[in-house]
Amino acid sequence: MRIGILTGGGDCPGLNAAIRAVVLTARLTHGDDVVGFHDGWKGVLEGDVSPLEVEHCRDLLSVGGTILGTSRTNPFAEEGGADKAVASLAEHEIDALVTIGGEDTLGVANRLGVYGVRIVGLPKTIDNDLSGTEVTFGFDTAVQTATEAIDRLRTTAESHHRVIVCEVMGRDAGWIATYAGMAGGVAEILVPEVPFDLGAVCERLRRRHEGGQFSSIVVVSEGALPHEGEDLDSARRAATGGITDQFGHVRLGGIGTWLADQVERHTGFEARVTTLGHIQRGGTPTAFDRVLATRFGMEAVGAVHDGDFGKMVALRGEKIVRVPLSEAVSVSKTVDLDLYGRVAGVFLG
Ligand code: F6P
Repeated sequence: MRIGILTGGGDCPGLNAAIRAVVLTARLTHGDDVVGFHDGWKGVLEGDVSPLEVEHCRDLLSVGGTILGTSRTNPFAEEGGADKAVASLAEHEIDALVTIGGEDTLGVANRLGVYGVRIVGLPKTIDNDLSGTEVTFGFDTAVQTATEAIDRLRTTAESHHRVIVCEVMGRDAGWIATYAGMAGGVAEILVPEVPFDLGAVCERLRRRHEGGQFSSIVVVSEGALPHEGEDLDSARRAATGGITDQFGHVRLGGIGTWLADQVERHTGFEARVTTLGHIQRGGTPTAFDRVLATRFGMEAVGAVHDGDFGKMVALRGEKIVRVPLSEAVSVSKTVDLDLYGRVAGVFLG
């Protein structure tokens, strides 16, 4: 067989481990040909493809990023893009396409299945917001990175008796904020799923201070908004010039700065902000993400050889299973509000 691979959407640690697993499993177990399309769906549209040999991939396990490059190109955003993608795959004699991505990239894969493209998806994103799998690779590394940053911020906040706001990634789902906030033992965790009450946040910070805790860390997802969000959201869109990608996502950023300013104004405590941004997307994957990406890649090749297309490999408990792509991309997996509420009730404030 001739298997194609692409990596699309935001990059994350573990992508190269997944590519490595697909190439080595396909070539060494099945004798398949494997080629990589560069820069996500853009490479498919442009026929930008290279062979992937074992020797190219054997040492990739710990290398961050993706050797194939990635993009946020959406074939369905351009006239005739889907037909162009189908024609390109046929021209390159691709028997099956292993698509590694988040909800946008896999959403395109799901739609192309209707055109007869034989696809198996691998779930990746630091946001962990893909349904159908308990976790995506990239998430564990991002949480580890954010937690290490919070630990560092804590010592400087304590030295200066400051409130430090740490903005983390997470457009629609606050998984990184929730897990890194729990791991870092922070005072406040603010997520997109639960619009926050600025006054209540400030009142809890005041109570901490009065109780002798003169420094606080506040973790906020980039997509979080206060109750009076519409004003801030329009202001933030104005600040980004309303820049959107081909999937319609506006470029986020700014909530952390806004929040630190508001906290200082309302409490009188010195406040600073650190925005972790793409640090959460870079660097070498944790052992957990290397293993998960490897297991996903192996199972994807198994699905290809079983002719089990239109599926996404997924983690369920300890097992790697296959779930319908249509299910995985139907709705974002947002934070478990029961967990969030219980954590807030015991550990926050
Ligand atoms: O989808 C993952 C993600 O890191 C989001 O958390 C973030 O909002 C977005 O990608 C950033 O996209 P880009 O790297 O294109 O700016």
